[in-house]
Amino acid sequence: MNSANAFGTMYSFITFGESHGPYIGVVIDGIKPNIPIDTEAIQRDLDRRKPGQSSVTTPRNEPDQAQIISGVYNGKTTGTPICILIKNQDQRSKDYSDIAEILRPGHASHTYLQKYGVFDYRGGGRASGRETALRVAAGAIAKQILQQQHGVKIIGYTRQVGSVRSEVSTDAIDSEVIESNIVRAPDQESAEKMIALIHEAQADGDSVGGIVEVVVKGCPPGLGEPIYHKLDADLAHALMTIGAVKGFEVGNGFGSVLLRGSQNNDPYYKDEHGRFRTLTNNAGGILGGISNGEDIIVRIAVKPPSSITKPVKTANRNGEMVDFKVEGRHDPCICPRVVPVAEAMVALVLLDHVMLQDRIATSSSEERIRQKLAVLDTEMQLLQMQRTLYEQELTVMQQQAHPCNDTVLHGIRQTE
Ligand SMILES: Cc1cc2nc3c(=O)[nH]c(=O)nc-3n(C[C@H](O)[C@H](O)[C@H](O)COP(=O)(O)O)c2cc1C
Repeated sequence: MNSANAFGTMYSFITFGESHGPYIGVVIDGIKPNIPIDTEAIQRDLDRRKPGQSSVTTPRNEPDQAQIISGVYNGKTTGTPICILIKNQDQRSKDYSDIAEILRPGHASHTYLQKYGVFDYRGGGRASGRETALRVAAGAIAKQILQQQHGVKIIGYTRQVGSVRSEVSTDAIDSEVIESNIVRAPDQESAEKMIALIHEAQADGDSVGGIVEVVVKGCPPGLGEPIYHKLDADLAHALMTIGAVKGFEVGNGFGSVLLRGSQNNDPYYKDEHGRFRTLTNNAGGILGGISNGEDIIVRIAVKPPSSITKPVKTANRNGEMVDFKVEGRHDPCICPRVVPVAEAMVALVLLDHVMLQDRIATSSSEERIRQKLAVLDTEMQLLQMQRTLYEQELTVMQQQAHPCNDTVLHGIRQTE
């Protein structure tokens, strides 16, 4: 699909809708028929992203109930496009009427106006985090296919809020712990400190940023399309399309500049199954833009959301400086809600690359069969030549043994 609102090559989708319109929706294409779809799992991921979950997310009350309009029949895909609609229910556009003329600092109103000359300012319009519900729906299907067919597991969590960082190793990440606290931190102690920091910012009418990390376990090696669709490049692109994301890292990322090559390289060994593994995973599971079979580890920097109740002076569309503060309901820290969105984007990239890799694998196995047929053809020609030679040899031997017979036979043959 050649549109800036579309994503993916083989497993592709297009989203539509704004924060305060009647509906938002997604159309997914490229999915094979007869794949079982767990609609409850789609809803579970949407519930993890939806607003109003806790004291650290916006109280906007949206049930984010997914309606599957097409492409699924009797719980299985039909191979036709899947359309999912989500109704917007708790819009309070009045909350935004005062800011229609104001250039909202940190949000997209001014840049959208510069580009399109028109902007649906209510709730941030198309630039709102609301659009990400659709990626979560498309990603939930991708996650199911990756898990069922390829044993791939994708786990996201809040690694850091402000200066509070969880030091739990990626090997010890536990989904149950993550989902048991409202910030989605990998350990309870950090979770409590992160929550306290968010409440502190909230009490000041302010907001706070953080780092969301995603680890992929069981990713097959060989995914990624050098040069311009390297796996890490596509992951960076996918994750940077999420509003408020300001940085991307894979593996050691920016930390690798502090290491020497001897510390940062990941030496190889052969495991008990005969597979080449690396002793360390500083590369974060990707080398040369191709997955190497180790855990993929990516990280994104999420800025403090712009909508804060703390007043600030900013310009309006006439160039006058005015007092501005955001009324309405907003997230003081969006990391806990970005976690399922980041997981979804990683799943969407991986499934697309699995399907691209299938194409290469299929064409290379076709090529292998063609080569085998060519070898067989040559062997058959050689055998045929050998057979002809043996026949000629036999004829000569028969002529030498019975010189008259041949004349007689020849004579008979000729009279027939
Ligand atoms: C799930 C989610 C929720 C968000 N909630 C808010 C919010 O309540 N207030 C806000 O100012 N920005 C919020 N954002 C971020 C804005 O969408 C984003 O900052 C804006 O589009 C400007 O884009 P940029 O920050 O990427 O440059 C949210 C983003 C996501 C992904």
